[in-house]
Amino acid sequence: MGTPAKRQLHLGYMYWLNGTHWGGWRLPEAPTANAFELDYAAKAAKIVEDAKFDFFFLGDTLPGDVYQEHWGTTHNAGRLEPFTLASQLALTTSKLGLVVTAHPTYYEPYILARLTASLDHLSKGRLSWNVVLGASDLAAQNFSLSDLGGERRYARADEFIRVIRQLWDSIEDGAYLQDKGTGHYLDPTKVHRLEHKGEFFQVAGTLPLARPPQGQIPLLYAGASESSRELTARHCELNFTGPASIEDSIEFNTDIRARARRIHGHDVPIFFLPGISPVIGDTRADAVEIFERLNAGLPLDEDPVDGDKDEQFWTSEAWSAIQQSRFPLPRGVRSLRSLSERVGVDLRAGGLDALVTTETAARFNDYGAKLLDAVAARTDRTVAKGAVRAGDLLRNAIGGGFPQVIGTAQDVADRLIEWFDRGAAEGFNINSPYLWDQLERFTGEVVPILQDKGVFRTEYTTDTFRGHFGLPVPPNQFARNS
Ligand SMILES: Cc1cc2nc3c(=O)[nH]c(=O)nc-3n(C[C@H](O)[C@H](O)[C@H](O)COP(=O)(O)O)c2cc1C
Repeated sequence: MGTPAKRQLHLGYMYWLNGTHWGGWRLPEAPTANAFELDYAAKAAKIVEDAKFDFFFLGDTLPGDVYQEHWGTTHNAGRLEPFTLASQLALTTSKLGLVVTAHPTYYEPYILARLTASLDHLSKGRLSWNVVLGASDLAAQNFSLSDLGGERRYARADEFIRVIRQLWDSIEDGAYLQDKGTGHYLDPTKVHRLEHKGEFFQVAGTLPLARPPQGQIPLLYAGASESSRELTARHCELNFTGPASIEDSIEFNTDIRARARRIHGHDVPIFFLPGISPVIGDTRADAVEIFERLNAGLPLDEDPVDGDKDEQFWTSEAWSAIQQSRFPLPRGVRSLRSLSERVGVDLRAGGLDALVTTETAARFNDYGAKLLDAVAARTDRTVAKGAVRAGDLLRNAIGGGFPQVIGTAQDVADRLIEWFDRGAAEGFNINSPYLWDQLERFTGEVVPILQDKGVFRTEYTTDTFRGHFGLPVPPNQFARNS
């Protein structure tokens, strides 16, 4: 008997044209040209396929106001349409999973079923659909809608997914007889016409192509609200929400698995791959320096001390909504004035370079105390060392998003393995703060450490998205048991 195979972690790459740190594209070594050409995305896909990643992730947040939103992330201001890009990447890669993002609010299930089934065929079973329900009501106005539909968009998504899963199964394997002798092209017993009459959709029809190679295309989802947890538990194979700590992550994963057990009546596999943003240097000090160079590229307000908002703004709903958002603080509230509102102490007097004293830090609220902890963890700057300037706090407060891991390749690998070993994650969706250097450092330096530890593949052993995750092709829901 051989030794049992060691549990393996999974890696996805979150492809954003300029990486995921807003300041990234401003570094002299970062590329800005040719980002809308296939070669650019194909280069990223080749790098991660050579490193044996599970998948290449094409996120897609439809913008409402491209100009305003680009101050938060250039990602929303420049991106190719994911299905079109994925169909080309299916030709430039051969093993790598391809994740396309589509928002049910903006599609009909029949159209999305056809697009995804076709792409699953063309990629030979490498597709996954990232279901999203986010972005602003402003974005809905691109689609003749006044808003996103509020909470009802989750009910719509639920019905949408149920319909699409039936459409994928609507032609059974073996239906295409193509019998030249008898002239029977299709076997009528294997063709299933939907008669769906629901709250949101009426679909009477059949998808005009063979069942996708994966049978049911795997679904990804991110979100932590009650509705999001239910949606993941009911329908999804993967989740990449990304809670901030190991403890939060274990609690989140356990909750969703319990919901799935209740809904399905038995355990179902759900893979949790939180997003993570590594900044990799030769030494910890080198990595911190890279991180601080990135932060120096974050655009502040025209007046970085007082900003330009009037007094009423700081008690308005608009400010409260900004504070609760998972997105980076937008430009317009990137001043010491807004930082002071958040930490509960007026920090304007000394300007951006003023050191924060222990007396001042002692008066910070909970948010301010957590921000100081985050700055210490990311950069080793502490108030006790006399090393925290007001500007450091502001720049660290701006970025939203996923946990940052700043250090050597070994530090990053250790962190991933810790999350993995403690059951907080089955893998990670890797963000690079900028291209190409940080992506190549991850694949060239971190991945070999994971491989040496035996927790990540050195060769692909399967060719499909389901295969990479050990997920079997499910039986067709319409097939008669014979
Ligand atoms: C990590 C993460 C990534 C997301 N990516 C997208 C995206 O690319 N496009 C989009 O429209 N919504 C995106 N969403 C929004 C979710 O699809 C969802 O609608 C909602 O905002 C989930 O948030 P919740 O935590 O309130 O449940 C994302 C949410 C999270 C947490």
